[in-house]
Amino acid sequence: MGFYQEYILPHVINLAMRNRDLVPYRERALSSAEGRVLEIGIGSGLNLPFYPPQAREILGLDPSPRLIAMAQEKAAGSSVPVTFIEGSAEAIPLDAHSIDTVVTTWTLCSIPGATNALEEMRRVLRPAGQLLFVEHGLSPDMSVRRWQNRLTPIWKRIGGGCHLNRPIRTLIEGAGFHIDQVETGYAKGPKPMTFMYEGRARP
Ligand SMILES: C[S@@+](CC[C@H](N)C(=O)[O-])C[C@H]1O[C@@H](n2cnc3c(N)ncnc32)[C@H](O)[C@@H]1O
Repeated sequence: MGFYQEYILPHVINLAMRNRDLVPYRERALSSAEGRVLEIGIGSGLNLPFYPPQAREILGLDPSPRLIAMAQEKAAGSSVPVTFIEGSAEAIPLDAHSIDTVVTTWTLCSIPGATNALEEMRRVLRPAGQLLFVEHGLSPDMSVRRWQNRLTPIWKRIGGGCHLNRPIRTLIEGAGFHIDQVETGYAKGPKPMTFMYEGRARP
């Protein structure tokens, strides 16, 4: 891992993700989290203040030890027990059917093997469990898509592997999930970066 990825990128991610416009998305998505929760790509722990009391335990997975260290500081003030796992969503080190809620917020864009990771999320979910997601991805507008496709090769080099053009709904369904609910639309900001998919899926 290079100097930028290891030392600079975690701070860039933390700053970018603290954007206040993302707070209503976090609040809506996390309000339905319950039971034993696995958050994929927990980053600097910005979702932690939004978990409701029905979330009785949180496991936070992330490959970046520096982001985990930032999240650990936030977890110190959390009333819910939080355990961190340094690892990748492509190989989740948990038993099958051991999780009630999987949460991903702005993470599927950066996981190299997103389909593999979603299959792993399905494996660890109990049959009655849920995947709660908020992700940015491929826009339905051709002019925006063209920019997303053009910019992704450069963007992913500075953005920790972030793809602007991932077809989030197709990826989730392709991994075998059934989508119960999904809302899409642009958030504030440049359109190639802000087409959001927000919803819930069942394994
Ligand atoms: C844009 S940040 C979002 C962080 C956090 N979910 C949030 O809402 O603030 C993307 C996160 O995905 C994580 N990530 C990248 N590759 C991953 C992988 N293979 N498995 C799990 N997480 C990954 C990054 O380390 C980073 O924390």
